[in-house]
Amino acid sequence: MIVKTAEFVTSAVKPSQYPRTLYPEVAFAGRSNVGKSSLINTLVNRKRLVKTSSTPGRTQLINFFLVNNSLSLVDLPGYGYAKVPESVKRTWGPMIEMFLKGRENLKAVVLILDVRRIPGMEEQNCIDWLTRYRRTPILVLTKADKLSKSEQKKQRRAIGSALGQDESALVLFSAKSRLGKPEVWSAIEKVVIDEHR
Ligand code: GTP
Ligand code: MG
Repeated sequence: MIVKTAEFVTSAVKPSQYPRTLYPEVAFAGRSNVGKSSLINTLVNRKRLVKTSSTPGRTQLINFFLVNNSLSLVDLPGYGYAKVPESVKRTWGPMIEMFLKGRENLKAVVLILDVRRIPGMEEQNCIDWLTRYRRTPILVLTKADKLSKSEQKKQRRAIGSALGQDESALVLFSAKSRLGKPEVWSAIEKVVIDEHR
C-alpha cells in the first residue's frame, strides 16, 4: 500500500459519533501499551498522527483515521490494564464490544500481541469472538526488536501453538525497525480487496 494521505477523522465513544461515510474499515485491538497506536503510525509513515505513550491506557476513545480517502483505520483503547479506574473499565468494554459487533463496514481487526508474552484465554476468546462476527482477525506480534532473530522465531512458534494457529499466520512486527510493515499491509489489503470482489 502506498500511503499518500492519512488524516484524523474523529473520536467517538458511541455509535452516533462514528463517521457516517462507510469506507472499508480495519480496527486495531490489543492490551494496553502493547503498541497499537505506534503500529498505525508506522503503517501510515507518520511519527505522531496517532498519540502514543509509555503510560498504559493512553488511548481512551475510539479514534478514526482515513487513508488515501478510501480506507478507514480505527485505533481502539487497550484492554486489560489493571490501573485503569473501575468506572472507566465498565464503560470501555461495552464501548469496544458495541463497535466490533455493530459497525457494518468493519472488515478486519488487527489483534496486536506482545511477541514476548504467551497469550491466554483473553486473546483466544477475542479471536473466537471476531471470527463469529465475521471480522477477519489479523494477528501481529509486535516489539520484535526486543528479541533476537532466533528468539522471535521461537516465540512465534510458541504463540502459534498457544492459540492453535499456524505460525505462518503470525506477522512479526516492530514499530522501531519497521519489520513486518509490508506483511501487515498485505494482510489488510487482502481482506479489503477480497470483500470487494
Ligand atoms: P494504549 O493506547 O495505552 O492502549 O497503548 P498502545 O497499545 O496504543 O501503545 P503505544 O503505541 O502508545 O505504545 C506503548 C509504548 O510501547 C510506547 O512507549 C512505545 O514507544 C512502545 N512501543 C510501541 N511499539 C514498539 C515497538 O515495536 N518496539 C519497541 N521497542 N517499543 C514499542
Ligand atoms: Mg494507543
